[in-house]
Amino acid sequence: MSEYISISGGALLEGTGVEFDLFLRAAAGEASNYVLYCREGEELSPERREDLLGKHADRLCIATGDIDKYIEYQEKNLKTILSDDNKSTREKSGVVYQVATKVVTDLLENPKSGRNMERISEWVTQTVGHIVDDDDTFSGLLGVSSKDYQIYTHSVNTSVLGLLFGKHLSFKEDELARIGSGMLLHDIGKLSIPLNVVNKPGHLTGEEFKAMKKHPKAGLEILEHRSSVNVLSLKIVIQHHENYDGSGYPYGIKGEDIHLFARIARIIDAYDAMTSKRSYAEPMRPFAVLAEMKNKMPGCFDEKLLREFIYFLGPKDQRKKRRNGDTVYSFPSVK
Ligand SMILES: [Fe+2]
Ligand SMILES: [Fe+2]
Repeated sequence: MSEYISISGGALLEGTGVEFDLFLRAAAGEASNYVLYCREGEELSPERREDLLGKHADRLCIATGDIDKYIEYQEKNLKTILSDDNKSTREKSGVVYQVATKVVTDLLENPKSGRNMERISEWVTQTVGHIVDDDDTFSGLLGVSSKDYQIYTHSVNTSVLGLLFGKHLSFKEDELARIGSGMLLHDIGKLSIPLNVVNKPGHLTGEEFKAMKKHPKAGLEILEHRSSVNVLSLKIVIQHHENYDGSGYPYGIKGEDIHLFARIARIIDAYDAMTSKRSYAEPMRPFAVLAEMKNKMPGCFDEKLLREFIYFLGPKDQRKKRRNGDTVYSFPSVK
């Protein structure tokens, strides 16, 4: 691995001390050479930041060993970064995604830490604000999402998708926060399942599948005594594998007995898994996944919601212009 990695200047804030060494890569054609531009702790004045981003934006690097410091700096300044009108939606989305991945990775390493749980809530609050305020977040966030299936990328992808779909369904901000947190945490119970089962390349045996099916209840056990996790987020954790026709697990409940948020989670969870590269399967194209969900998985999903999800993922201008006779999915108020 290279000793340096490129970073986007979007995360750099003027007037604050930069908490990692900033380097400039030598111009194209020259041998790989890195020059220290700004030392850790030095303040980045507006003039210096402008000079940096104006002339050298594509040559900005940090030492690979400083990645954690760099992401912590973004996490600490997330609110400021997201409210900066000079940063593009794409830059902001990159920061949102990177911070989420770090927060979830730390939580999975230490799920008992109250601080890690608080970081989840803080990320969700900032991201909900970003998604509600900015109409371009749809393409921005989906553009930066990783398509390699691992628990943390899957958790972040499904959370982001849940927030965007929730906005599309006109949920209020507090409801979006429940969805965002619930999706980030939905598979946390996999921490209690033997790793050789969770990471097995290939299909699971009957016994292994039985073990895997314990993860919703295991997740609830990890989270239910935490006051920072809302009961609606817990519905997602415990019910996200329930099928609309009652054939799911752990309880086999069906129809509207499954909470609306969990019915949304069922769709998004399947969609993200199938569009990602897994150890036993290549990623499928979004259109093929939606066709398979619609035609080959009868009874798994709330059909009205699935139809709305397909509509939501369709070309943007089509989503804006509904045709006569189209009905917007309407749902009872969330309880
Ligand atoms: Fe799951
Ligand atoms: Fe999942």
